Amino acid sequence: MARYFITGAQGCIGAWVVKNLVDRGQEVFVYDLDLEPKRLGLLLNPGELSRVQFIRGDVCDSEQLNAEIQRRQIAYIIHLAGLQVPTCRANPKLGAMVNVVGTINVFEAARVRGTELQGLAYASSAAVFGPEEDYGASPLDESAPLLPETHYGVFKQCNEGNARVYFKDHQLSSAGLRPYAVYGPGRDFGITSGPTKALKAAVAGRPFEIKFGGPVSMQFVDDTAKTFIACAESRKRGARVYNIRGAVITVEAFIQSVEGVYPRFKGLIRCTSNPLGIASNLAEHGLQDEIGTVPTTDLQRGIQATVQIFERLQKEGRLDLSDLDG
Ligand SMILES: NC(=O)c1ccc[n+]([C@@H]2O[C@H](COP(=O)([O-])OP(=O)(O)OC[C@H]3O[C@@H](n4cnc5c(N)ncnc54)[C@H](O)[C@@H]3O)[C@@H](O)[C@H]2O)c1
Repeated sequence: MARYFITGAQGCIGAWVVKNLVDRGQEVFVYDLDLEPKRLGLLLNPGELSRVQFIRGDVCDSEQLNAEIQRRQIAYIIHLAGLQVPTCRANPKLGAMVNVVGTINVFEAARVRGTELQGLAYASSAAVFGPEEDYGASPLDESAPLLPETHYGVFKQCNEGNARVYFKDHQLSSAGLRPYAVYGPGRDFGITSGPTKALKAAVAGRPFEIKFGGPVSMQFVDDTAKTFIACAESRKRGARVYNIRGAVITVEAFIQSVEGVYPRFKGLIRCTSNPLGIASNLAEHGLQDEIGTVPTTDLQRGIQATVQIFERLQKEGRLDLSDLDG
């Protein structure tokens, strides 16, 4: 059976990638600094969790990373380990080590795996784009200029460039995906975790302020996870990079949508007027060409699915509210 190696799999997107693969009966290796299945424990029961193999590892440790990928005879790599915008802003050197050098280490190990490797997908980000006002009104495809305004966005742009060079120099194919604001259970850190935290706070009956406002593209985490898996498995060649469109909306309209589905949440969720500074009207024709239909959960259904999981956790006494103050 083909083996999947997921870096950063204890994170939000990673946990959903692992859940999808376990649901399909695949053999999954989690490579993460963190051994605690905090988010995975929300999605998998103990029996399912016991089928996942956990490796404590740092993507900056090229020797360990390479040894694990070769020794475990990995067929598919999905590279998600990374530090988010606030951490890269506070410590750009660490951000570059993990997000750029860590990604080089993953590509090196993939190169060594040679023709045994069947697919490599990695997380870039919509943060490679600049603010809305840098672009025109039409949806942006992958040919739009990259004008990132954060170290994080620059690191992701650098990874896309390195992926191109790996294909040119070594014919190593890869697919980079550019998620925007991923939401859903497990999303508890980073600027764009605000909408998910707001839903959690509302379930707990607490007020919450999302620290940004204006245009955003919202993507349900299970869709994002399925898209990563589909890109890793697509067998296409080249250094491909894709936008994901998601639900293009404003934060203010998202709040209205939530209140439309759950009138009892009225007045609990607010947002500031600070823009995110990343263009949100993205085209995903490239992704459609790569995988066919892009998994896209309608926003209202994504909100309902998220709230239902939070309500279940609350009933079980497992709704962790510690992220709401962060
Ligand atoms: N969540 C989003 O909205 C979003 C949007 C665009 C891009 N992305 C990218 O997608 C990827 C996954 O995002 P996420 O939201 O799941 O992130 P997350 O912060 O929830 O998880 C990241 C995981 O990486 C692990 N990690 C950090 N440094 C590591 C290291 N040196 N070695 C090994 N593991 C390490 C962490 O322990 C954590 O489990 C990231 O690369 C992120 O930049 C996410």
